[in-house]
Amino acid sequence: MSVSTIDIKVKKVEKSRINQLDPNNIQFGKLYSDHMLVADYEDGEWKQAEIVPFENLNLSPATTFMHYGQAIFEGVKAYRSPNGEISVFRPHDNWKRMNRSAERMAMPDVPEELFMEGIRKLVEIDSNWVPEQDGTALYIRPFMIAVDEFIGVRPAEKFKFIIITSPAGPYYSKPVSIYVQDQYVRAFPGGIGFTKAAGNYGMSMYPTMKIRQMGFDQILWTDGFEHKYVQEIGTMNVFFIIGDKAVTPDLNQDLILEGVTRDSVITLLREKGITVEERPISIDEIEAAYKAGELKEAFGTGTAASIAPIAKLTYHDDQMALPPVEQWEVTNWLMKTLADIRYGRSTDTHGWRFKV
Ligand code: COI
Repeated sequence: MSVSTIDIKVKKVEKSRINQLDPNNIQFGKLYSDHMLVADYEDGEWKQAEIVPFENLNLSPATTFMHYGQAIFEGVKAYRSPNGEISVFRPHDNWKRMNRSAERMAMPDVPEELFMEGIRKLVEIDSNWVPEQDGTALYIRPFMIAVDEFIGVRPAEKFKFIIITSPAGPYYSKPVSIYVQDQYVRAFPGGIGFTKAAGNYGMSMYPTMKIRQMGFDQILWTDGFEHKYVQEIGTMNVFFIIGDKAVTPDLNQDLILEGVTRDSVITLLREKGITVEERPISIDEIEAAYKAGELKEAFGTGTAASIAPIAKLTYHDDQMALPPVEQWEVTNWLMKTLADIRYGRSTDTHGWRFKV
């Protein structure tokens, strides 16, 4: 795939802020690299993309996305291999997903070259921001916002596509405690659950705040009709190891985000000969499996968290505590196998690593 035919202008910082990065204390989303990419869409086309010093945006208070949420984003990561080589994990899949979000939110497609070469060049320029410790990466956040200066409600005509990057450590420091949500809803058929639209995250803040006050880390979202079928946990896809099979909600009905980590996990499991079922899963089935001793492991997947083991699920008054994670065969194998591919410690047989 050729991605280098696009011309991206570059204006570099006079002085890098890299000395602000403490390699031994990298927190998620706290510190941003020296540069960012910005491209404007106007008059039906994308204008010249530029890589410029990371800086604040100058926007009118009447800017559309601030009022009506026409805003979408992606999450991608760049990893440093032991030999110093840097590669981005499956960015092409994020590009495709970004455009699915864009279509649903009445926003323009981001051209493949702008997305791919934009990421490549930005990461190349800020390559000293890609950390090297195990469990760390450079988190890449491409996003698009509607920037008409107009507070009438209508699909916007002007947009900004921006990419920022941020060194990231592990998202969760320990296995997560999950509350099965039976009041608030994340996604409905025909809605925007399958997109990475800002509103999907905004609406989750209140229910998440509530369950955090109760001592839980994340929500297991259920369907809006019966609160019976599970959807996602927090901002992640969810997997259950029941007996010798892996089970995860299917992507039908536009409810579930088509996670790149989700797809990688399904691919690796199937290659190992483990049956993966993508289908509706009810909370009753999970409870029954737990009671029968068949619920062996459970985890969330996402770019930020990678694979996040679930320590406990709470559904009404029932607590489903899983065995200690050290004893989990499938999840531990997956975490190692995926990390080895991402960090270039094993052969990339799938073509998942996009070299910078
Ligand atoms: C990701 O895994 O990239 C996510 O979507 C989580 C993010 C909202 C922090």
